[in-house]
Amino acid sequence: MATDDLCLLEQIVARHDNDASKLLQILREVQECFGYIAPAVVSSLATTLAIPRARIESVASFYSFLHLTPHGEYRVLFSDNITDRMLGSQDLMAQMCQQLWLQPGKVSEDGLVSIGTTSCTGMCDQGPALLVNGRAITRLTHQRVMEIGQLIRNRTPLADWPADFFRIENNVRRSDLVLGSTLLPGVVLRIAQVLGGQHVIDTVKASGLRGRGGAGFPTGLKWEGCRNAEGAEHYVVCNADEGEPGTFKDRVLLNLQPDLVFEGMTLCALAVGAKKGFLYLRGEYRFLLEPLQAVLLRRRDDNLLGKNILGFHGFDFDIEIHLGAGAYICGEESALIESLEGKRGVPRNRPPFPVTHGYLQQPTAVDNVETFCQAVLALHIGAAKYRAIGTEKSSGTKLISVSGDCPRPGIYEYPFGVSVREVLQDCGAVNTRAVQISGPAGVCLGESEFGRKLGFEDLPTAGAFMVFDDSRDMFEVARNFVHFFAHESCGFCTPCRVGTSILKQTMDKIAAGHGTRYDLIEVENLDRVLQTTSHCGLGRSACNPVLHTLKHFRPAYENKLKSLDFEPAFDLDGALARARQMTGRDDAGAHLKGEGI
Ligand SMILES: Cc1cc2nc3c(=O)[nH]c(=O)nc-3n(C[C@H](O)[C@H](O)[C@H](O)COP(=O)(O)O)c2cc1C
Ligand code: SF4
Repeated sequence: MATDDLCLLEQIVARHDNDASKLLQILREVQECFGYIAPAVVSSLATTLAIPRARIESVASFYSFLHLTPHGEYRVLFSDNITDRMLGSQDLMAQMCQQLWLQPGKVSEDGLVSIGTTSCTGMCDQGPALLVNGRAITRLTHQRVMEIGQLIRNRTPLADWPADFFRIENNVRRSDLVLGSTLLPGVVLRIAQVLGGQHVIDTVKASGLRGRGGAGFPTGLKWEGCRNAEGAEHYVVCNADEGEPGTFKDRVLLNLQPDLVFEGMTLCALAVGAKKGFLYLRGEYRFLLEPLQAVLLRRRDDNLLGKNILGFHGFDFDIEIHLGAGAYICGEESALIESLEGKRGVPRNRPPFPVTHGYLQQPTAVDNVETFCQAVLALHIGAAKYRAIGTEKSSGTKLISVSGDCPRPGIYEYPFGVSVREVLQDCGAVNTRAVQISGPAGVCLGESEFGRKLGFEDLPTAGAFMVFDDSRDMFEVARNFVHFFAHESCGFCTPCRVGTSILKQTMDKIAAGHGTRYDLIEVENLDRVLQTTSHCGLGRSACNPVLHTLKHFRPAYENKLKSLDFEPAFDLDGALARARQMTGRDDAGAHLKGEGI
């Protein structure tokens, strides 16, 4: 390696205390600095961190934003969520490929650029979107794509691209308890400190607050379990991985209410007895890193973080931000912890749960961004008032990320119990054929179910609300979701690794006009296998998109099926052409569909 590069590398490693458990952060910075992780860099890191090269390569190859080979000076990734596609992302990508004389997935011969796709970038309310060297650009049009192509051709440094390209909107359409909060930093923390950690837990338990990351586990119980678990250290982790396609409310919360997030984490630390917290920020939200770090700095200056917080002797707590690198599975809490420890993001066996054996095998409370905000407000207004909002089993409000076929996509905050129809009315959707609740892993509703209500009693949701009008082919929607699962399966367990791939091939086969009823029955069989044998929630929910769309929109599948009982995925008769040629036969009997068969 050149001396200058070696110097840069040493600086990166030193910034992370020469600590191998920070490997992912080191590799991410190396990638940002050098464009890829070269073999010489791997060797140098192996020596400095005293770990095998194989470990570095195995971690680097797990994350889709890290590359062990050159991927171009400009790495362009089009967001491939169904809502981006509905807004024309595929045409725009084809346009850029044509302009730059490049095939998708390839690096240009001069090493200038590569163009490909990535899973949902969390910009569904302002798509189509892309990432260039990890930075998001939204509201793509043919004009904007042409300008981007020109900037790349001219090798214009990203810092000199029009600032407007990188503007990310919040699009808040309806505010309530959380988005409307004007609480000053430290107000709730000061009172909580006086009343003590047990009071925080009791209030959160009494408020009925349940986790907003999807599963809805009672937050107070989790914090209590963590407080009571034995361990030399306790940790707090904020899950800001937000990878579920169609979900972007955590991005908006981190942008508009970062103090609520950090205050919630600090209250949790008081409750569980933690001195250290992590915010795991998805790589796609890289643009939030510096603003969030500035908020942390300010909170340290105001003695809301650090030693003896607010003068309370012995209450020490600080927060570090870790960036992900393009792996949806790292949203699963145990995979996230593995990733925090600098490893591949493979989910752990559970039990034991993170609450007793989390980060570095110590008791760890992992909560969603929104959960921390809600906890602050539950403590602020009091358990009884908080419980009075929403429904019996779902107290408080919920942020919904609305995207798809509606004139007003964006963030809507409602008390739990709002009906799907009410949300559709508010976002101006008309002629709605279907709504996908909680992303591909969630449920697809047809019109007859629009009276159903968001909440743990009926429709639990992490927040995604994707609208499809009557012009949409719901088979294609399900196919996009199935491709997502196949791409994001971490590959650890065979049923999911193979099953998601078979599912993808089946949907592609149907799309190509070779499907039969037999394939649909096979999907049901596959679902049974995945439900019972998958290691984590990704595998267990992989067949949902097909099963749910089949339930409501069976004709969308049947229109594409052949009426035969069995149809091979390739042209069998065509495959015999060479044999016919060699034997000099081309009569009807030499064809599979000929009379002799
Ligand atoms: C495949 C998969 C992906 C997940 N992604 C996220 C995510 O992006 N954000 C999140 O908060 N929870 C996600 N979860 C849920 C977490 O595992 C965990 O339940 C959650 O962070 C707990 O926080 P809460 O109690 O505040 O909801 C995911 C779960 C699975 C199985
Ligand atoms: S179910 Fe899929 S994503 Fe989950 S551990 Fe197994 S292979 Fe990985």
